Amino acid sequence: MTASLKHLVKRNRWTAAAAYVGHDFVQGLRLRLGDLASESGATHARFSLAESLAYLDRVHDDYVSFARTLAGVERLAGTIAEVGPGDSYGVAVRLLADGAEAVHAIDRFVQRIDRERDGAIYEALAARPGVARVFDGSPAAGRIKGLSVYRGKPAEEHFAAPPGRYDAILSRAVLEHLQDPLLGLDRMAAALRPGGVMVHVVDLSDHGMFEGHHPLTFLTLPDPIYRLMVRNSGRPNRVVVADYRAWLERSGLAGALQALKLVGDGAVLPPSELGQFPAPSLAAAEARVAQVRARMPERLRKMAPADLAVSSFVLVARRAMQRAG
Ligand SMILES: C[S@@+](CC[C@H](N)C(=O)[O-])C[C@H]1O[C@@H](n2cnc3c(N)ncnc32)[C@H](O)[C@@H]1O
Repeated sequence: MTASLKHLVKRNRWTAAAAYVGHDFVQGLRLRLGDLASESGATHARFSLAESLAYLDRVHDDYVSFARTLAGVERLAGTIAEVGPGDSYGVAVRLLADGAEAVHAIDRFVQRIDRERDGAIYEALAARPGVARVFDGSPAAGRIKGLSVYRGKPAEEHFAAPPGRYDAILSRAVLEHLQDPLLGLDRMAAALRPGGVMVHVVDLSDHGMFEGHHPLTFLTLPDPIYRLMVRNSGRPNRVVVADYRAWLERSGLAGALQALKLVGDGAVLPPSELGQFPAPSLAAAEARVAQVRARMPERLRKMAPADLAVSSFVLVARRAMQRAG
């Protein structure tokens, strides 16, 4: 699509929706023909080396700190699943260097990885104390000991028949792309070892689908149309924070769900202030919700405004340890 056509289409939510239905149909044909290439996880393609390292460190450090502060897990060790790693295995490298035995990287799509950039990331990581031993040969070659890659299958399918059980299952900016994230979570929960923990950071924004419009425009389209826009392309699934909270309550796992970011507000809460938004920020986000709530399908309209105001959150859930004896 040319930039001017894109601009024209995006001026109106209905023409944009029609364009997304068309694009999703083509994506469905491509998937059926076995073309799994995707740009959606191309995080590092737009980063400098320093930005890539800072991003990978943040993703890794958030997993560690959320597991500790919200589930009391002191170390991420054993066999770990990283769901939807995107276009770098740098987080897996850090987990392995910290003492994980194995990391399984599970992704529905195959990202175009820039080998040169990727090699530079691994070389920079290997220069840190204790990291070089994770690589088999030169770090730039990217052979990572203990990493197994599972590509081309949605997480929902991988966890229906996993190759083993996991001590930790981690994801960032992934669950919102699953067709059925709650089924995915059920299956991930079943794949956890006793004492195992899940940490999922979920981005509930529209991922730029309706740029220039109200940030919740994507929640205003009727369900049958929205389904046609997203079912093959991995665009956001409109499963919202209240759905995840209800999942956690019925899961039988101990856990927590904490908001990190509000609609239309760039600020991300640091882990030390999880869920503690200042009242004026929350009121402003709820006012933003009120601008479009009446146009949402009934299922979403019925949700509490404070829930619809959450645009990013972390969900942590832990399976109980087996009792001795
Ligand atoms: C926005 S990217 C996030 C990548 C990385 N976690 C990060 O934080 O930069 C979403 C990733 O999820 C993957 N993905 C989308 N749907 C998936 C599914 N059903 N199962 C597993 N991975 C999926 C995409 O291919 C992509 O790698």
